[in-house]
Amino acid sequence: MQTTSNASTNSPPPAIVHDQQLAIEHLKSQLRKSQSMAALGELTSTATHEFNNVLMTIINYARLGIRNRDDESRDKALSKILAASERAAKITTTILAQARNRSESLEPTDLAAIISDTLVLLEREMNKYRISVTTQFDPETKPALVSGNQIQRVLLNLLINARQAMGEGGELLVRLQPSSESGYVELTVRDSGSGIPQETLPNIFDPFFTTKSGPDESGKGGTGLGLAACKEIIDAHSGRIRVESTVGVGTAFTIRLPIANGNQAAA
Ligand SMILES: Nc1ncnc2c1ncn2[C@@H]1O[C@H](COP(=O)(O)OP(=O)(O)OP(=O)(O)O)[C@@H](O)[C@H]1O
Ligand SMILES: [Mg+2]
Repeated sequence: MQTTSNASTNSPPPAIVHDQQLAIEHLKSQLRKSQSMAALGELTSTATHEFNNVLMTIINYARLGIRNRDDESRDKALSKILAASERAAKITTTILAQARNRSESLEPTDLAAIISDTLVLLEREMNKYRISVTTQFDPETKPALVSGNQIQRVLLNLLINARQAMGEGGELLVRLQPSSESGYVELTVRDSGSGIPQETLPNIFDPFFTTKSGPDESGKGGTGLGLAACKEIIDAHSGRIRVESTVGVGTAFTIRLPIANGNQAAA
């Protein structure tokens, strides 16, 4: 005779399973919120450094303008101050946009603008390590159906990894183009860094996999969560992320994301 007692079976009753599933969903959504807050924190700290740097430029050129009374020096000082102030405004706009748009919803998004904004935040860091940054935006590229915030997080992770792989001097290419597969756009971040050995390539997207001993002098890196987060975000966008790497030559990460056509945008 089969027992009817639940205690003797391994599967809990459906009501409990349902409760557990709800609890898991709740925890997952809490985790996503904390991840997005942590990413905002990281972005804010990067931006604060950048902002401070811009302020130093403004202060120094204002001093120069006060010291030198001739028209030529003053014109030069004022145009430098204007350019730096415009950069400062761009930095705060980027942060405010991230902080304001917490919905994380998918919208038709111009990825070229996201790339440019993100590079503004890392300009000082790239200059410091003498990394030359090239962008190639194919004007034929259609807007993608993405959460701009999340894709910016992916980009920051990839760009910081690339910078860390290059040390002093190096070449970074960020390219945006229509994908060879129709209905998709393709974003590539290519560096001339150390490369990734064949045997570690399968592990790089695993959570907590890292070859870094801890944060570097700019306070970044070392938890091994960057690429795991990138993969999770790209999967949630029904996209794909892949990597090609040669030790001693460099690494390229390529992301494929769906374009926003009329139907998707309305969904
Ligand atoms: N562009 C790259 N060039 C060389 N190695 C890379 C590159 N990107 C990632 N890696 C390797 O993959 C590992 C995992 O990267 P991931 O971004 O997930 O973690 P991390 O950078 O070590 O730490 P963090 O959580 O701070 O990002 C790195 O430790 C590094 O060994
Ligand atoms: Mg990383």
